[in-house]
Amino acid sequence: MASESEALRIGVLHGPNLNLLGRREPEVYGRVTLEEIDRRLVALGVELGVEVECHQANGEGELVDRVQELGDRVAGFVVNAGAYTHTSIALLDALVGVGLPFVEVHLSNIHAREAFRRRSLLAHRAVGVVCGFGAESYLLGLRGLVARLRERV
Ligand code: DQA
Repeated sequence: MASESEALRIGVLHGPNLNLLGRREPEVYGRVTLEEIDRRLVALGVELGVEVECHQANGEGELVDRVQELGDRVAGFVVNAGAYTHTSIALLDALVGVGLPFVEVHLSNIHAREAFRRRSLLAHRAVGVVCGFGAESYLLGLRGLVARLRERV
């Protein structure tokens, strides 16, 4: 984790099929590409004074590896685990295991879709969940996480 004097670094994780954004079911996920989302996150990071590092992986194990690897050098995560949100105990265990706060985000409103999307295996350990705002969900999630990390209670 970053020391007090260093800029906070935030890891952003995108799960399976999010590399297809822009052409994947645009009526559900919009037309903004993943590259554009990452660009907006990095730009917001500059505004907020944090470094943002974004990764996408289709494999569950790859995401677990990323969490473990980033766990040594970030202060928290913004996570859109895609379909693994609803299935992956391994990803939950990795996020809890590194002991860092994370925000769960989704482009779509997972509560207004199929019943199987309403259950998240991650949400009960997240500091917050943002869904339904398209690409903006990520930006709101980043703002929320940074605010939480900077809270001095
Ligand atoms: C998603 C919602 C998930 O249910 C789905 O499997 C995705 C994308 C979202 O951002 O809305 O891949 O996480």
